Amino acid sequence: MTNSNPEPLPSQRHLFDIPDDVAFLNCAYISPLPKASLAAGERGLRRKTRPWTIAPDDFFTASEAVRALFAKLINAEADDIAFAPAVSYGMAQAAHNIAVAKSQTIVTLAEQFPSNVYPWMDLAERTGAALVTVPRPGNDDWTAALLARIESSTGLVAVPHCHWTDGGLIDLAAVGAACRRVGAALCIDATQSVGALPLDVKRVDPDFVAVASYKWLLGPYSLGFLYVAPRRQGGRPIEHNWIARRDSENFAGLVNYRREFQAGARRFDVGERSNFALMPVAEASLKLLDEWTVPQILKTLSRRTAAIAERARAELGIDSVAAHRRAGHYLGLRFAIPPDLPARLAAEHVHVSVRGQAMRVTPHLWNTDADVEKLFAVLRAALR
Ligand SMILES: Cc1ncc(COP(=O)(O)O)c(C=O)c1O
Repeated sequence: MTNSNPEPLPSQRHLFDIPDDVAFLNCAYISPLPKASLAAGERGLRRKTRPWTIAPDDFFTASEAVRALFAKLINAEADDIAFAPAVSYGMAQAAHNIAVAKSQTIVTLAEQFPSNVYPWMDLAERTGAALVTVPRPGNDDWTAALLARIESSTGLVAVPHCHWTDGGLIDLAAVGAACRRVGAALCIDATQSVGALPLDVKRVDPDFVAVASYKWLLGPYSLGFLYVAPRRQGGRPIEHNWIARRDSENFAGLVNYRREFQAGARRFDVGERSNFALMPVAEASLKLLDEWTVPQILKTLSRRTAAIAERARAELGIDSVAAHRRAGHYLGLRFAIPPDLPARLAAEHVHVSVRGQAMRVTPHLWNTDADVEKLFAVLRAALR
């Protein structure tokens, strides 16, 4: 369902198991699991106590439903989605399938999350390509700073949709167009955005997009996703598991080894992806997002973060990335952060985190106005 004029959503705290006195403003760290997802996971885990109830079909049905639900979030097809337990795993698949030459560059942003840096340091080392790190721009305009470094020698651009430290936004449509102009590959780590910020792969046209589930997808740890562009779906996976091969539905015939793979991006699925405990968790969480819709989630969180940013400036003189340069769901407050501040806030049941130079405040639909009041009360006292 698309909604061109979304209304903010009321608090959905009743769907989560969060005590009243806890102000959890840290979705960018780990989201709480919705109650429905926990129940689905309990049912899934219990099945392993009765393996005779697990049929060969069960290895496929839930995985395919989850593939389709995730695909919808990024305007992809289910065939374009592979399961990757971590962003590092997804990027390893990408690095295995992208050719860069010694004369080329690999472009990343300063202070990017390591799972989207180490694979490229390794690729640079193996190929002799130069790793270019775009410095943090003083005006927070990552897009302009990045576009200035995409040139004819660029072989690969590996970036997020928003910076994980403070929500600094990257215009991926412009970056995608620049990559196409120079023939560079584009790899996106959208862990801190998909689920809360729309991403349209048909418009951006990336080669690979990796997303961990356990933050903005409200899902489990170690069951994430890799979008693989149709032009990359003939590639070579980093591992070879039985279920990724053609006709793996026929368990009796698995010893008839096949050269052919299952359709689309499925060849890149991690081994044992039919995870009977976690797949139902991912499915339940993705269904919730589908009901709320991403535009409504974004609208709701944008209002919340804008109000917090404005109040932090007015009441405490604390700065953040300007609204037009920031992803709406994501806020990083920038000030001289006392090293013990997160622990002092946590002692009062206010949960945020510090990454780089920013204190991240990343609310979600479980938050209430009372959580924000509590954040400011504790911050005021701590900074006095
Ligand atoms: C931007 C970003 N990417 C990825 C991850 C997680 O990476 P991985 O799935 O490789 O552990 C995090 C976790 O904080 C993150 O902030």
